[in-house]
Amino acid sequence: MIRVLVTGGTGVLGRRVVDELRQKGALPRVLSRKMQNAGQGMEIAQGDLVANTGLQEALKDVDVVIHCAHNPQNARENTLATRNLMEAVRASGVKHVVLISIIGVDRMTFYPYYRAKWQDEQTVIQSGVPYTILRSAQFHDFVGFLIDTLSKIPLILLPRDLCFQPVQLEPVAEDLAHAALNPPAGRMRDLAGPEVLTLDQMIRSYLQAQGNHKKVYTFPLPLPFITVWKDLSRLDVSRKGETWHQWLSRQDRIANLYQKARG
Ligand SMILES: NC(=O)c1ccc[n+]([C@@H]2O[C@H](COP(=O)([O-])OP(=O)(O)OC[C@H]3O[C@@H](n4cnc5c(N)ncnc54)[C@H](OP(=O)(O)O)[C@@H]3O)[C@@H](O)[C@H]2O)c1
Repeated sequence: MIRVLVTGGTGVLGRRVVDELRQKGALPRVLSRKMQNAGQGMEIAQGDLVANTGLQEALKDVDVVIHCAHNPQNARENTLATRNLMEAVRASGVKHVVLISIIGVDRMTFYPYYRAKWQDEQTVIQSGVPYTILRSAQFHDFVGFLIDTLSKIPLILLPRDLCFQPVQLEPVAEDLAHAALNPPAGRMRDLAGPEVLTLDQMIRSYLQAQGNHKKVYTFPLPLPFITVWKDLSRLDVSRKGETWHQWLSRQDRIANLYQKARG
């Protein structure tokens, strides 16, 4: 049985990756900073990528690593975490690392988080360990979480014409699990959802689905900034999963996963 260490396996995406691996007959091992109970058909390893603890034990007898862990609030920590992970992977002799990245990280280096993610890609590529990198669009659940956060303020002011192509979590998890159980593929085809929407289309439809009548105002952004986002939405990507509106229609049944995870 193929044993796969999933960093960030307790997170929103990582949990789905673990489920996919189990369904595909692999044995996932979840890396977490906290002591957790292992569910059926999986293992737990305690370790901290930033503090660089527990990695050697976590990698013991592992065939492949899927790296999903990150700290959304601390880009510098993410760079250190990925470097520590790749050093431990090299020392362990693991022969394949799969990294989740984000569409456009190489063009959006003006955001510290994206710059760090692009740096993570370079760390993996230059490590000498065979790799697969999947760049994904923003997850529906993440966009929903951002809108919930934004709608706590009295009025919503946002940039006009910012394009996104949000994607359902499941196809991302499926592609990562599939990549882990196949030979290293280098950069995979980027993955996005089936449609391109502007941020204000997404916010208005989200608020409407929640019965929230908050006013939304838009303002124009400087052209070069908009051009980058528009270019990204024209990339030749794989388009999978349900649309934003299909996802929205399920929101009365499933609470936002990020709200649940982050309390
Ligand atoms: N959100 C999006 O729209 C989007 C789009 C494309 C790509 N991505 C990428 O997808 C990945 C997963 O995102 P997510 O939103 O699912 O994550 P998340 O829910 O915020 O979960 C973060 C995970 O990272 C782990 N972690 C954090 N610091 C750690 C450390 N020092 N050592 C070990 N583990 C640590 C946490 O584990 P414990 O708390 O259990 O230790 C947790 O499982 C990220 O790399 C992100 O960049 C996200």
